[in-house]
Amino acid sequence: MAHPTTDKITVPSLVARKTVGPRIVCLTAYDFPTARILDEAGVDLILVGDSLGMVVLGFENTVPVTMEEMIHHTKAVTRAVRRALVVGDMPYFSFHLSSEETIRNASRFLKEAGAAAVKIEGASKKRLKLVEALVEAEIPVMGHVGLTPQSVHSLGRFRVRGAAAAEGRAILEGARALEKAGAFSVVLESVPMELAKEVTESVGIPTIGIGAGPACDGQVLVVHDLLGYSTGYLPKFVRKYADLHGTISRAVGEYAEDVRAGRFPDDRTSYHLKPAERPTGPGPAGRAASRKGRAA
Ligand code: KIV
Repeated sequence: MAHPTTDKITVPSLVARKTVGPRIVCLTAYDFPTARILDEAGVDLILVGDSLGMVVLGFENTVPVTMEEMIHHTKAVTRAVRRALVVGDMPYFSFHLSSEETIRNASRFLKEAGAAAVKIEGASKKRLKLVEALVEAEIPVMGHVGLTPQSVHSLGRFRVRGAAAAEGRAILEGARALEKAGAFSVVLESVPMELAKEVTESVGIPTIGIGAGPACDGQVLVVHDLLGYSTGYLPKFVRKYADLHGTISRAVGEYAEDVRAGRFPDDRTSYHLKPAERPTGPGPAGRAASRKGRAA
């Protein structure tokens, strides 16, 4: 089998991973440098999530995120990515009015932003019809059940979903219905691991878990959470693999001290005149430097 970092990931090759493995590695990204690092590190699937609103734009939840913001950030990500499959997240109210508008918005992720697929939250009857319409329009769709953050106001708060039997059954049926409607994979967010296992064993498409335990066919995390670059609350399911907040904070602190102490910039980080063009006497530059008590 080819090395996992060399084969371009496509929708069919991702679906095949359900049976042939290995587990699908997915992370979010919202900008060029992060997407380039993730892609080079062999991440299979890069989701330009509407978590953008919370971890990059400073909103309290994902509801305010707009199509324009999603397209802008998806473009930056696809410019960086060579191998991973890029999925654009349909933001709140981009798929709520009509199937025509939903298709038009979804198509922008493919036509303008260069993504290969879109993700859409929920599995209501109306949502399933939209998934069918998108698939019919040649737009691959990733479903999303369990905790659907765009429903924050109707749910009241972010919480584990599917712990009660009826809610668990609805999630299982939702995932099955999404597969039937043509979705190529489904995100399971914040559900008990036993339920995620049952869903994973009941559908023929890959399940991508976030807070859904180890039985899923793949895992996703918000990259800022994994890197320790988020501010505020971190859900129980996050494992921090780095402390970027600390690293950046220390670096900026050192820079500030150096600027204040006159240690930055120094000779190495400054441009120089050629020796023949250097001022000989105490010209304006020399006089200004000596006024500050520094050598010219
Ligand atoms: O917006 C997002 O980042 C997501 C993932 C957490 C699945 O939907």
